Amino acid sequence: MKVAVIGSGGWGTALAVMLAKTGSEVALWSFDEKEYQRLFNDRENRAFLPGVLFPEGMKCTNDLSVAKDADIVVMAVPSFAVRTTARKLSEYITDKHIVVNVSKGIEKDTSKRLSEVIEEEISASCDIVVLSGPSHAEEVGRGVPTAIIATSRSKKAAETVQDVFMNENFRVYITDDIVGVELGAALKNVMALAAGVCDGLGLGDNTKAALMTRGLAEMVRLGIALGGKEETFAGLAGLGDLIVTCMSMHSRNRRAGILIGQGTGTDKAIEKIGAVVEGYYATQSAVELARRVNIEMPITQEVYKMLFENADPKEALYTLMTRDKKKESNTAWK
Ligand SMILES: NC(=O)c1ccc[n+]([C@@H]2O[C@H](COP(=O)([O-])OP(=O)(O)OC[C@H]3O[C@@H](n4cnc5c(N)ncnc54)[C@H](O)[C@@H]3O)[C@@H](O)[C@H]2O)c1
Repeated sequence: MKVAVIGSGGWGTALAVMLAKTGSEVALWSFDEKEYQRLFNDRENRAFLPGVLFPEGMKCTNDLSVAKDADIVVMAVPSFAVRTTARKLSEYITDKHIVVNVSKGIEKDTSKRLSEVIEEEISASCDIVVLSGPSHAEEVGRGVPTAIIATSRSKKAAETVQDVFMNENFRVYITDDIVGVELGAALKNVMALAAGVCDGLGLGDNTKAALMTRGLAEMVRLGIALGGKEETFAGLAGLGDLIVTCMSMHSRNRRAGILIGQGTGTDKAIEKIGAVVEGYYATQSAVELARRVNIEMPITQEVYKMLFENADPKEALYTLMTRDKKKESNTAWK
């Protein structure tokens, strides 16, 4: 298979290297001319994935027309760049292409899922597949065993992606729940910021377990209200990704949260991370979506206040701990 990977940050690079090693003919496209030159000369992405050498034959390019000859086009740009990149890509995409989105987020201004954004911008009626799940680039780059999920309206397209991406260290499951997978991918980053804040405040494992569990409950509430399936949130795109992103130091969102919990202001914390912190954008979208469908998301609300209204993390914690008494689930005593 010919694969064009559009976006040479950590994730695009890790997937390009993995696919090249798995036998695909791969070209990795960089948005930035200087980034392209560095990758071309070093045969390694020293900024985002140091130590992972590019296999022989893997191409680097900054020419988007590389997508024309590919069978599969993987979009691995940050969520804020998905619409502009898809628009530019559109002239090279035909009905025969499969476009795979691996970016995790919700579009800020429209609160649309990224596959919806891609569908709007690409004029061909190609199949769109979304790949998500617990998968840090740093580990996939080193061949650490990983399981992930692919979803699409087309079962055939999801199966093609499963075939092309799967290898002995990378297991791909498939599902038809696009809404659940995309919302899980975006919302877990909000919880990762909150988990980081817990760590930055020096709180304990009990606190983080409570945060992840109650965080998942609000992810499920919003996901179901928007048409996702509950079971997806118990799977790789929900619980799986939530665990990895709330626990791992590879998570930029968690690391940004740690800095915020330690008293670093939001802007400075994000600047210090030096890579895309998707939870920052996802928090705004989650609050807007929850408002539209009238869903309570108390943790998300507090993360919003910390990020955008300068709320004190300790105050946020106090607000959450002293909310009205609740049943754990609405089905109790019914
Ligand atoms: N890093 C991971 O482990 C990982 C895993 C799964 C999913 N993702 C998702 O993949 C997406 C990309 O993340 P990443 O970690 O590879 O990013 P990164 O922070 O490592 O790199 C950002 C990349 O975006 C490029 N870029 C900046 N502005 C751009 C623009 N306007 N148009 C196009 N490209 C632009 C930069 O040149 C750089 O290559 C995110 O949505 C992220 O959530 C990341």
